[in-house]
Amino acid sequence: MPRRHPSRTAVSTPLLLLNIGQLLTLRWPSGNSGPRRGAELRELGIIEGAAVLCVGGKITSVGRTKDALRDPWIKKHRKQIRELDCANKVVIPGFVDSHTHPAFMSPRLTDFEKRIAGANYEEIAEAGGGIRASIEGVRRAGKRELAERVLSALNEIAAPGTTTVEAKSGYGLSLESELKSLQAIRAASAQWPGTVVPTLLGAHVVPSEFQSNPQQYVSLICEEMIPQAARRKLAKFVDVFCDKGAFSEEDSLRILNAARKNGLQVRAHISQLTRTSLERILKLNPLSLDHLDYVDEADIRLLAKSETIATFVPGANYFLGLREYPPARKLIDAGVGVALATDYNPGSSPTASMPFVLSLACTHMKMTPAEAITAATINGAWALGLEKSKGSIEPGKDSDLAIFGVKDYRELAYWVASNRCESVIAGGLVVVPR
Ligand code: NIG
Ligand code: FE
Repeated sequence: MPRRHPSRTAVSTPLLLLNIGQLLTLRWPSGNSGPRRGAELRELGIIEGAAVLCVGGKITSVGRTKDALRDPWIKKHRKQIRELDCANKVVIPGFVDSHTHPAFMSPRLTDFEKRIAGANYEEIAEAGGGIRASIEGVRRAGKRELAERVLSALNEIAAPGTTTVEAKSGYGLSLESELKSLQAIRAASAQWPGTVVPTLLGAHVVPSEFQSNPQQYVSLICEEMIPQAARRKLAKFVDVFCDKGAFSEEDSLRILNAARKNGLQVRAHISQLTRTSLERILKLNPLSLDHLDYVDEADIRLLAKSETIATFVPGANYFLGLREYPPARKLIDAGVGVALATDYNPGSSPTASMPFVLSLACTHMKMTPAEAITAATINGAWALGLEKSKGSIEPGKDSDLAIFGVKDYRELAYWVASNRCESVIAGGLVVVPR
C-alpha cells in the first residue's frame, strides 16, 4: 500500500483549536430536526473568535477562545493538550462527499477527446466507451492494486477538506469483481483516517456478456451480488443507475427491493439523462436520489414531502460540457433537503474537490455560499444516515474538521480551482495535506 495519509498525531492526544476567525458549527437551527430545508440551509451557526476541544476522537466542547482559556479542565490539562492556533482562519465540519466512484483503474482519455470532438454521453457509450470501458481494468486488477487506487483517490478527496466519503463499486460488474471492488474499498478505508461508507453499484450498466439477456444480469445482482455483499457486510447501500442505456425503472425497483430484503439501504442515480417519475422509487425510502437534472414540478413536490435528500453532482454537468444544471433553486424553495457531492469518477466527473463543487453550485445553480456549505456538510451526512456523528461541530460528534486559510466562509466557494484548505482533522487525527 502507498504511504498512509501524511503527518498524524495520536488520537489519544486531546486537541484544542484556538483563535478561529469564523467557526461554522452547522448546529441545529433552533428546535428543528431533520435535514436542512429552505431558509435553514443558510444558517451556519457561526461563532467568531471560537475554540473547539476534541478528546478521544470526539468534539467535547465548542465555544469562544477566551472562555476556553479560562476553562478549569483545559487549564489543568494544558500540558497534555495539543494546541492549534487557527490565526483567525475559517473552520468548518469536514465535508461529507456523499457520492463517489473511486474503484477504477484508469482515466478515460479517449472518451474525453471524443466528447471534445462533439460526441455525447450516449454516443460515447454506444461506441464502446463510457462505463463499460472501465470494466476490463478492474476485472484484471488484483485486490491490492485496486485498493491502492482507491486509497490514492481518498487522499486526493481529503486534501481540499473532505473527511467522510461514500464510495461505490460499479466498474467490475461481475459477482467476483464487484465483491473485489468492495473489498478494495474496505482495505483502503482501513488505511485512511476519515470515514468511508461503501455502496454496491453492481447495477451501473449491463456488462456486454449479458447484453442479449439483461434480465439474467438483474437476477445475478438480486440473487447473488446483493446477498453476498450483505452477508459479508461489504456494503451499507445498494445504488442503481436508473436511466436510458442503464437500468429501467422496473429493473431498478426490483434491485432496490432485493437490497431492502437483504437489510441494505438504498439510493439511486436517477433523471440524469432522461426523466423517470420519482413516485415509485420514493416509496422505497431512499436516503438519497442523485443527479436529478430532469425532475419536474410533480417530482419536486414529492421530494419536498419526503425525508429523501436530493443530491446534486454539478461536477458531472461541468465535465460533460452541459449548458443545463439541475434546478436547485426550485428544489430549495419548495423545501427539499439538498446535498452536494463530487461524483468523483473517470467518465463524467474526475474531480475530488468539494470546494470546486461549491463553486459550481453557486455560479451555475444559483445556490448561495451558505446553502452550498450546508448541502456539503450536514445534509451530506443525512444523505448517508450519519447525521448523528458527522456534518456539524457539536459536542458528541466526531472530531472531523477542516481549516481554510481564508477570513470569510464565502471564500470557500469563491476561489475557483485552488485549494485553500490548510489542515484536515479526521476522528481526532491531524492530517496536514500540504
Ligand atoms: O454518476 N451516471 C452514472 N454513473 C456515473 C458515470 C460513471 C462513468 O461514466 O464512469 C455518474 O455520472
Ligand atoms: Fe455517480
